[in-house]
Amino acid sequence: MAAPSPEPPIGRPTIHINCAVSVDGRLAYAGGKQARLSGPDDLRRVQELRSASDGILVGVGTVVADDPSLRVHWELLDRPPGTSPVRVILDSNGRTPPGARVLDGQQPTLIATAEKCTRDFPPTVSVVRVGMHRVDLRALLPELGRRGIRRLMVEGGSQVIGSFLALGVVDRMTVFVAPVVIGDATAPVLATFPMGGEPTPVVPLRRVETRPLDEGTLMTYVPANAPA
Ligand SMILES: NC(=O)c1ccc[n+]([C@@H]2O[C@H](COP(=O)([O-])OP(=O)(O)OC[C@H]3O[C@@H](n4cnc5c(N)ncnc54)[C@H](OP(=O)(O)O)[C@@H]3O)[C@@H](O)[C@H]2O)c1
Repeated sequence: MAAPSPEPPIGRPTIHINCAVSVDGRLAYAGGKQARLSGPDDLRRVQELRSASDGILVGVGTVVADDPSLRVHWELLDRPPGTSPVRVILDSNGRTPPGARVLDGQQPTLIATAEKCTRDFPPTVSVVRVGMHRVDLRALLPELGRRGIRRLMVEGGSQVIGSFLALGVVDRMTVFVAPVVIGDATAPVLATFPMGGEPTPVVPLRRVETRPLDEGTLMTYVPANAPA
C-alpha cells in the first residue's frame, strides 16, 4: 500500500492591501495626523472587505497615530454580525500603548514582535516573535497561515504597505483616491520601501478596475505579472 502523501505545506495567506489616499498620494495629514479620506460608500466597502478577511494587519505606527479598533463595523452592513477577523499588529519592540484599542480584548489579536522583545502583553493577546531585530514578514506569513488566517487584509500604514509590496507578496491592492490635495512633505505617502534594498525596488502593477465612488475614485490593482 502506498504511503499517505505528506500534508501540503501551509502557505501564506492571500494578501489584499486596502488604503485611502489624497490625490497627491498621502495617507494622512502633515506629521501623520489621521485623515478621514473615505466617504460613506467607501467606508461600507472597507467593512465588507474586513468582514471577508480572517485577519486585518497594521503596523505599530498606525496604532500609535490613529488608535484604530480594527473591528468590523457590522452596523454599516445589512446583515447580522459574523466572525471577527484577527487583528494583527507588527510591533518589533513592543511599542503598542497599554491603553490601545487593539489591546481591549474585544476580538482576537495577535502581536508580532522581534525575538529580542521581552514585553508582556495581556493574556487575551497572542504573541509571535519572528525576526532578530524587526518582525520578519517571510517568517510571519506562513505562521499566520498555520493559525488559520487564509485571507489577510493589510490596511497600512506607509512602511507596512511598502514592506509587503517590496517583498512581492501582494495579491490585490485597492486604493480609494479622495478629491483632496494634502501637499505637505511630512504627510506619509502610500508606500515607503524598507531602507537598504539596492537598487530601490519599483513594483509594477496592473490596473484591473477604476470606478467613481463617493466623491473620489476607487482603483484596483494586481501585480503586473499576475495571471490575467
Ligand atoms: N489612509 C489610510 O488608508 C491609512 C491606513 C492606515 C494608516 N494610515 C496612516 O499611516 C500612518 C502610519 O504609517 P507609518 O508608516 O508611520 O507606520 P506603519 O506602517 O503603520 O507602522 C510602521 C512600523 O511598523 C513596525 N514594523 C514591524 N515590522 C515591520 C515590517 N516588517 N515592515 C514595516 N514595518 C514594520 C515598525 O516599527 P518597529 O520597528 O518599532 O516595529 C515600523 O516603524 C499614520 O499617519 C496613519 O494615519 C492611513
